[in-house]
Amino acid sequence: MKKTGLILSICALFFALFLQGCGKVKEEKNEPRLLLGVSQIGSESAWRIGNTKDIEEEALNYGVGLMLENANQKQENQIAAIRRFIAYKVDVIAFSPIVEEGWDNVLKEAKDAGIPVILVDRDINTSKEDLTTCLIGADFYNEGVMAAEYLKRKADSLQMDHVNIVEITGTENSTPMRQRQAGFFDTIKDDKRMTILESIDGDFLTSRGAECMRYLLDTYGSEIDAVYSHNDEMTIGALPEIEEAGFAPGKDMIIISIDAGQEAIDVLKEGKINCVVECTPKLGKALMETALKLKNGEEVDKVIHPEELCFSDEMDTSTIAPRGY
Ligand code: AHR
Repeated sequence: MKKTGLILSICALFFALFLQGCGKVKEEKNEPRLLLGVSQIGSESAWRIGNTKDIEEEALNYGVGLMLENANQKQENQIAAIRRFIAYKVDVIAFSPIVEEGWDNVLKEAKDAGIPVILVDRDINTSKEDLTTCLIGADFYNEGVMAAEYLKRKADSLQMDHVNIVEITGTENSTPMRQRQAGFFDTIKDDKRMTILESIDGDFLTSRGAECMRYLLDTYGSEIDAVYSHNDEMTIGALPEIEEAGFAPGKDMIIISIDAGQEAIDVLKEGKINCVVECTPKLGKALMETALKLKNGEEVDKVIHPEELCFSDEMDTSTIAPRGY
């Protein structure tokens, strides 16, 4: 009897250890590798919605716990979100600054709390050093260069002796607005054919794109040869205005857009947009890998730019793969 009791006890012990072991494996599997606080700008565009979705999917893939807050286009909401992340003691903070100025105080608070900060998509302007660790986002300057280079090639092919351009820009003082403009202006500045009639702030919104285009058509009408719009939403807003004013977009006016979301690519295929420069929202993978490196105390690259393409009527547009945003 004694022997049987001992055997039973040993079995029970092994069973208990086995259960504990299972529990441990399960616990480790469910426990996030790090907690990442992300402050997203808002939902102003297909690009932004695609970017949020990509970050959520990659957080799941990498086993990263995500606290993601949507700031609904307000800087003060982003600052409040970053303060909540600090209070919650997340491991890493990431955010896409809506504009470049005004972040020093809150970033100093994150630094004092010992929480590394990653800039995603957009940059900040600060004189203080080391408030952020790195930037993961597009080379907006190069996007502006690609847009202008296309326009020069198009002007060559149409043998145009002058090109009057209207520019609908993204949110004032945002990185893509400033750099897409600078890259474009720098590239056309020595080309005597090119004149900027006016640049106007469309805030990356469809409704503003339509309003801006209405105003530009009222002011310049048939003088306009080309429309350079800083994102697809504003372009999509501008097109019906151009048609209503009696012009054929893509033929009477050269239309250049940025982002290359599916809707704009479909319109490129219809011939109403001539060129769309890609800005990829798929930054989630690089973000997770960088956040994990920071958590482990490893060095990270200061700037990570994804590869980007230019889609235009110079190519066989039927070969463009589905965009996914
Ligand atoms: O910062 C990236 C820009 O922001 C995209 O071009 C635009 O669509 C978005 O709103």
